[in-house]
Amino acid sequence: MATPTLEKPAAQAGADHLVTVTFRIRRFNPEVSAETHWRDFEIAIDPKERVLDALHQIKWHEDGTLTFRRSCAHGICGSDAMRINGKNRLACKTLIKDITPIKDGVATKPILVEPIKGMTVLKDLVVDMDPFFQAYRDVMPFLITSGNEPTRERLQSAEDRERFDDTTKCILCAACTSSCPVFWNDGQYFGPAAIVNAHRFIFDSRDEGGERRLEVLNDKDGVWRCRTTFNCTDACPRGIEVTKAIQEVKKALITRRF
Ligand code: SF4
Ligand code: FES
Repeated sequence: MATPTLEKPAAQAGADHLVTVTFRIRRFNPEVSAETHWRDFEIAIDPKERVLDALHQIKWHEDGTLTFRRSCAHGICGSDAMRINGKNRLACKTLIKDITPIKDGVATKPILVEPIKGMTVLKDLVVDMDPFFQAYRDVMPFLITSGNEPTRERLQSAEDRERFDDTTKCILCAACTSSCPVFWNDGQYFGPAAIVNAHRFIFDSRDEGGERRLEVLNDKDGVWRCRTTFNCTDACPRGIEVTKAIQEVKKALITRRF
């Protein structure tokens, strides 16, 4: 069902910086229907705003039942990963003007917004993240050491720190895992994000749990399921070389050197 159409494009209505944009959002409410459906919202908005701002505008002024996650609104918390025009992105880092052509004050194509794939949808754009975080917990994403607690900080050379610098940037948004065709298939694969976070500690010279993590990822649902499609690297909003990290973990499993 479409919302009432604005009488004229926003740009003609006097608000020159605004354009008329249609957001086509996949809706799902299990309390109402077992089926999903698309709903169009036509709004006037500054194209320099982000998709998250548009979702807020829709929720606050058009339909308060629209459900999505967000927290920081600045690309840090990782809670607003969604499929926008068929690609996994953070809604708070995606500018409207970058994803739809605009002509005479009107976006000529609707912007499609859907939940990320491969996870159970709970409502609208909110998916069940429990299996994702279970895989994260399974790789033990914390420093493992033996012996007594040190009386001073654990030192590390700049070169050793560099080995896992890229994978420290992960914000656990799940854009990588939910863009992976292997994960879509059965959802059992640990997924890129868990491997990235295992990598972060396996290659940390201060850590002593690398062997344990490698054994976890040597599982039938572990790192060998990766088919090197690079979807994960393309999807990562932090620019992490996810596929490279996965390859390094595979190599460490073969050589047992890390
Ligand atoms: S590796 Fe990138 S895409 Fe995957 S969870 Fe971390 S930040 Fe998100
Ligand atoms: S709302 Fe936190 S990353 Fe987008």
